[in-house]
Amino acid sequence: MQKLAAGNWKMNGTAEVLAEIAALAAAEPTPACEVLICPPATLLSRLSDAAKGSPIRTGAQDCHANEGGAHTGDISAEMVADAGGHYIIVGHSERRADHAETDAIVRAKAEAAWRAGLSAIICIGETLEEREAGRTIEVVGGQLAGSVPDGATGVNTVIAYEPVWAIGTGKVPTLDEIGAVHDDIRTRLVDRFGATANDMRLLYGGSVKPGNAAEIFGVSNVDGALVGGASLKAADFAGIVSALK
Ligand code: PGA
Repeated sequence: MQKLAAGNWKMNGTAEVLAEIAALAAAEPTPACEVLICPPATLLSRLSDAAKGSPIRTGAQDCHANEGGAHTGDISAEMVADAGGHYIIVGHSERRADHAETDAIVRAKAEAAWRAGLSAIICIGETLEEREAGRTIEVVGGQLAGSVPDGATGVNTVIAYEPVWAIGTGKVPTLDEIGAVHDDIRTRLVDRFGATANDMRLLYGGSVKPGNAAEIFGVSNVDGALVGGASLKAADFAGIVSALK
């Protein structure tokens, strides 16, 4: 399995950030892992062009479930593919919170990514309230069951476990806590999908930085990271990429 360092730029960046791609490619010309940047949709095509000839791949942060039609402001998975993307993040907690995305909606978006020949990075994770109530495994297990479509394989699907309370906060679960959730996710996936689930990459996300990446990558069943803030600067993201062997 090739591990994955995925950057989620969220709603950050205009044309001048394209320089970060050249800097990242220069800092990590032959990464040991797969490297992915998901910029805002406005930059996807230009970033895909800028990444040509480097090992860096690009993707989107969301898509509509339909292929096209009267959906003002939305983009389809086919449009992401046309803009050079290889992956689509679906069900990020910010989309679930800001746009009321349910597990059923997330599942439909993952299927849309597959329809366009792309891989889906399906995000799940508990809130602080749910963690403090001792409901982490139940909540994450429920989102996993509801958001991952039948037909998921190690090729078309990546799972990102992102505790909502760890995103952008500088707070990170203990390594044991991360391991417990990732082990549980792996068990559930293998129960449902069989051996292909052993090839499905399970990313940890939430305040991953160059300083904590290596220890997080040492946790069982952590196959990479989904990185927000620290993916915006090439120097920081390169530090995370180099920690992923
Ligand atoms: P963060 O965001 O690295 O800034 O915590 C992670 C994410 O939301 O994917």
